[in-house]
Amino acid sequence: MSDKLKAENVLVLLGSPRKKGNSAVLAEHITRGAESAGAKVETIYLNGMKILPCQSCYTCQKADTKGCAINDDMQFIFPKLIKSEAWVIASPVYWFNMTAQTKLFMDRCFALSAYGKNPFAGKRIAIAITYEGSDPFNSGAVNAFRIFQDTYNYVGSKIVGMVYGSAYKAGEIKSNKDLLKQAERLGKRLVGAK
Ligand SMILES: Cc1cc2nc3c(=O)[nH]c(=O)nc-3n(C[C@H](O)[C@H](O)[C@H](O)COP(=O)(O)O)c2cc1C
Repeated sequence: MSDKLKAENVLVLLGSPRKKGNSAVLAEHITRGAESAGAKVETIYLNGMKILPCQSCYTCQKADTKGCAINDDMQFIFPKLIKSEAWVIASPVYWFNMTAQTKLFMDRCFALSAYGKNPFAGKRIAIAITYEGSDPFNSGAVNAFRIFQDTYNYVGSKIVGMVYGSAYKAGEIKSNKDLLKQAERLGKRLVGAK
């Protein structure tokens, strides 16, 4: 890794079924910030992947584990999660929390420890959340914030920042220019640039 950047590889996980939706727009601006600082960014559209729910078999936690027992697209995502020093997780609020696609992905990350030593430790994370309600409280965005905070504090990752805003139709968030700038700045901070 270069002396300048804390993260050279960034993995973006899109948790909305809308490829060009509001949370994807925020993720795109975080990406711009990270790329402008020199980082390499790859984006994964979770809704297009086959990701089954964790089956609680604990195979991934056994001493001689070869990894997650479920043979689906998470097998393709695990190495990318390990390789990238920073992640961006973008989700709209669905029923007062993150989307099911995002939560499925998070549950399956239980198996990440089978693919590397302390894979979560020091991982730098940016969160992007969109919702229709008038504020983070009445929309339920706060519930998603809390889950991200509790999860990534617990596993020793660092949430570098969160961007969030209200919008309804796909792409409507683009009119919130201040928020887009905030997202771009977060992208820079995520990879350790000023
Ligand atoms: C099934 C469903 C449930 C939703 N639940 C909420 C909710 O609980 N609170 C809220 O403020 N918005 C809710 N919304 C609105 C979306 O969060 C909002 O339109 C968001 O900007 C969509 O982001 P996207 O374009 O990235 O998909 C819901 C939308 C759908 C389709």
